[in-house]
Amino acid sequence: MDLRTKLAGSASRRNVLKGSAAVGAGAVGLSRLGGFTAAQDATPAASAATGQLEVFSWWTSPGEAPALQALFDRYNELYSDVEIVNAAVAGGAGVNARAVLITRLQGNQPPDSWQTHVGRELIDNYVVPGYCEPITDIYESEGLLEVIPQTLIDQASQDSEQYSVPVGVHRGNGFWYNRQVLDDNGITVGETMTVEDFLAAAETLQAAGITPLSLATKDTFAAAQTFENTLLGVAGPEKYNQLFLGEVDWDDADVRTAAETYAQMLEFVNENHPSLTWDQATSMVLEGEAAFNSMGDWAYGEVVAKDAVENTGWVSHPGTNGSFVLVVDSFTLPVGAAHPENARNWLRVLGSKEAQEAFNPIKGSIPARTDINREIFSPYHQWSIDSFANDALVPSCAHGQASSPAFQQAFYDACLGFVSDKDVDTLILTLQDAAALDAEMAS
Ligand code: GAL
Repeated sequence: MDLRTKLAGSASRRNVLKGSAAVGAGAVGLSRLGGFTAAQDATPAASAATGQLEVFSWWTSPGEAPALQALFDRYNELYSDVEIVNAAVAGGAGVNARAVLITRLQGNQPPDSWQTHVGRELIDNYVVPGYCEPITDIYESEGLLEVIPQTLIDQASQDSEQYSVPVGVHRGNGFWYNRQVLDDNGITVGETMTVEDFLAAAETLQAAGITPLSLATKDTFAAAQTFENTLLGVAGPEKYNQLFLGEVDWDDADVRTAAETYAQMLEFVNENHPSLTWDQATSMVLEGEAAFNSMGDWAYGEVVAKDAVENTGWVSHPGTNGSFVLVVDSFTLPVGAAHPENARNWLRVLGSKEAQEAFNPIKGSIPARTDINREIFSPYHQWSIDSFANDALVPSCAHGQASSPAFQQAFYDACLGFVSDKDVDTLILTLQDAAALDAEMAS
């Protein structure tokens, strides 16, 4: 694709994101509330399909793998003669998987379907370069336009065509804790938590020899995600959106305060964070080695897998109550799939009520469909469903939805560097430079 076409794409994408962010701040949630009623089963009938289906994702952790398997199981219930090839590449947030995938796409060797976040990751990385087939007809035949909230459809669309099926909606700004550890140290967490509440609890825990906050930076996304949550807490959803849309300068006083707050929180993390993956950091909380972990609600998948539901509590990342950081997992149809019909059936299954009700309780996310049976979900899920309905929805940069891939990479680098040097000026300058580059590309 020539540069001009690519740039034209960036400009129109910007408007899509702008529109959905604005809707997300208020109206979207309400439409969702009314939706939890019985709906028609749009799942396709069993068929005689054969051959293979290669599915590419990064779901390999103890919580992620069984959730993926639940999707495979549902697919094989309907298409029992299709052999599923699980091409998952380990590494939280897809940092390793995306690199492997792009090499395959460039070499015309696509898997039959791959995992991607909706928003800029889907559009910039895969739709604009021409790697995805539109699947608008699947949205129509499966009735997805009626049951998936418009804000998610918008982020899966380019020029009125849909390009991926969202299977689950994660809330990125979770703050998980070990109930017993907090009880033992006389700490109570209410419905919400401020940064001051956290810092006071952290002092107590540290004095008692417990790691207050577990962090994993082997998975580089975690440093970026913790900063983005802290930024959201300080700046609020409106300014958070404006920052990622290039409407507010990264030299804003709230960014500085957020960086200083992040530096304070980093005083309370485990020293071995460079050697841990995200699920290992979450496990530190589940096993009582740490009190808190800031993590999207795929952490709840670990809670389920490790049978730790009773002893695990949650609250929004300090200061972010009232906001829902969107991290939406979806799957695509490639141009040149080796098994296109099997891939199309896979997408039909993913969009179905049955698959979304089987997958999300294990994964920690909530269904993208609004017509699910709320009663089968855990108290955590019900809390997240309500948050999705009522709170300001903001896209995650750490998970590719809010910014260009180039800005996302700069954000990762800046945040990871900050974990070691805590240099506020460098963080801000790096983000300013990346935003300037983005603006230049889009103009
Ligand atoms: C996110 C993804 C989640 C979860 C997490 C950790 O990017 O949306 O489904 O897998 O990474 O790997």
